This record gives sequence, C-alpha cells and structure tokens, in this order.
Amino acid sequence: MIEKLAVIGVGLIGGSMARALRQEGLVREVVGCGRGRENLERALALGVIDHYTHEVGAAVEGADFVLVAVPLGAMRRTFADMRGHLSAGVVVTDVGSAKASVVRDAREGFGALPPFFVPGHPIAGTERAGVEASFPELFRHRRVILTPLAGTAPAALERVEWAWRHCGAEVTRMSVEHHDEVLAATSHLPHMLAFGLVDALARMKENEEIFRYAAGGFRDFTRIASSNPVMWRDICLANCEALSAMLGRFSEEMADLARTIRNADGEHLLEIFERAKAARDRFIDGVDAERG
Ligand SMILES: NC(=O)c1ccc[n+]([C@@H]2O[C@H](COP(=O)([O-])OP(=O)(O)OC[C@H]3O[C@@H](n4cnc5c(N)ncnc54)[C@H](OP(=O)(O)O)[C@@H]3O)[C@@H](O)[C@H]2O)c1
Repeated sequence: MIEKLAVIGVGLIGGSMARALRQEGLVREVVGCGRGRENLERALALGVIDHYTHEVGAAVEGADFVLVAVPLGAMRRTFADMRGHLSAGVVVTDVGSAKASVVRDAREGFGALPPFFVPGHPIAGTERAGVEASFPELFRHRRVILTPLAGTAPAALERVEWAWRHCGAEVTRMSVEHHDEVLAATSHLPHMLAFGLVDALARMKENEEIFRYAAGGFRDFTRIASSNPVMWRDICLANCEALSAMLGRFSEEMADLARTIRNADGEHLLEIFERAKAARDRFIDGVDAERG
C-alpha cells in the first residue's frame, strides 16, 4: 500500500500511473504538483488526485512514494526542490525517456545520488499530453525499464517494480547506457523520421496538394509527428550522443537506398524490402505471442 503518492507533473504519464494505482486500490492519498492551475483542477475533477500544490517541496512532504513525471528539461530543478522535504523511507522514481541525463540531474539536484532513487522509463505513451489524455490501462502489457544504479537500495527497487507490476506492466532492468542506446534506435530515431518527413513535406511549395493525397500509410507512419514538441526537444538534447550516432548510421542506410534506386538495382531493392518485411513480421508475431 502507498500511504501518500506525490505526482510531480500530472500529465499523460504521471496521471495514468496515479489512475492505475488508484484503480488497484493501492493508494490512500494522491497529491499532484505542477505549474499551471487548469491541468491540476482537471486532475482533481477527474479524481486522479485528491489535492494539489504548485510547490514541489510541499508535495513531497510526508509522501512515501514520489513519481517524477515532468519533461526532461525540468528534472534537475524538480530534484533540487525536493531536498530537505523528503521523509525517511521514501522512494523516488521518474519516467523520463532518456536515463543518463536524469541520473546526472538527480546527482546535481539532490547533491549526491540517493539510495532511494530508482530511475525508470515506461515504454508506453500516446501523442497526446496533459491529465485529460491519461488513462489507467496505458501501461497494461507494456514494458517498463528500470535502470538501477550501484547505490540503489534493493528495497526501493523492489517497491518501484511492485508498483509498475500492479499497473499491468512487465518490468525489465538494464544499465543506463544500454537503455539510452536501445531507445535511441527504437523510439527516438523513428520520431525524428516522422518529424523530419512531415516538416520537409510541409515546407514544399506543393504541400497542400501533397497532404490532400496522403493516404493511410502516410497517416500511420506520421502519427508520432503529432507528439509533444517540448518533450521531444528535451529528449533530443538529453540523449544527443546516442541519437546522433543512430541518425548517422541511418543516414548511411538512406544514402545506400537512394543509390540503389538511382542505379535501378531491382535485385538489391527486393533484398532490402524482403529483409525488412521478414524482420517486421517476426517482431509483430513475437509481440502478439507475448500478449497471448
Ligand atoms: N508521452 C510519452 O509517450 C512518454 C512515454 C514515456 C515517458 N515519457 C516521459 O514522461 C515525462 C512526462 O511526459 P508526458 O507525456 O506525461 O507529458 P505531459 O502530458 O505534458 O505532462 C507533463 C507534466 O509536467 C508538468 N510540467 C511541464 N513542464 C514543467 C516544468 N518546467 N516544471 C514542472 N512541471 C512541469 C506539466 O504540468 P504544468 O504545465 O501544469 O506544469 C504536465 O502536467 C517526460 O519526462 C517524458 O520524457 C513520455
């Protein structure tokens, strides 16, 4: 049981986790924290939180579980504002989409990495933002990656795992560096492709006509370009190294594809497409099998 859950950043992710824990009957009290009044009033009306404050220090006072779900750019300030207000026995976790930057921010914000801090990242989301977009099933059958550090207390790690499992997630652990490399490839790079493609097309002279004839495939592929721009700016800045390396490798692949098309090398094209189709089919079959 969580006696007092403090959610710093009651948006899509923070709101969804609070809702999931609440639905499971695992929290007695939820306090929300954010800058704006409107989103927090909405969170109150939706029953996601019981009360709110705009002060991080006041929110975490007396809390036994603190969930930090603000954009990456706001992490350091948030950790710093907690100093001197946390109770003994508290567990603090975050949901930031890049982990090395959060660990750096925690070290700087707290002054040193505390044993009660468990960095985490749910691999779940939508392109919508704010508490209005949150829902308790968001993490069901989805993975949550925890990246515990050398000094992380085992009890804190177990408590965070316990909470995520009750949200319906499958919890895995990996190192901070590995997480950032894997996510650069599987999430951050695809978002760059979607943002880059839509922006490039939108800036073409004939853009109205292009978008008028855009069909299902374009819609599917570019859905993630509707994601929160502030969040994605922060992710690029936070995971700059791994993402730059991945973009470099991908640009070479694209150059190879362009060359193959220019050379009208149908055989090589078929080879690329068949390899990609087989890989995706295998991946989709694997996901379906996991979900039963
Ligand atoms: N969306 C996804 O697909 C996804 C998936 C996995 C992880 N994440 C991570 O989850 C975190 C939150 O993302 P989200 O999608 O839940 O975003 P969101 O819906 O926009 O929620 C973010 C919340 O943080 C508050 N906030 C924004 N800027 C702040 C600041 N400078 N200081 C303090 N609070 C601030 C906002 O409330 P106020 O504006 O009222 O302050 C808002 O309620 C991010 O770190 C993101 O990397 C997102």
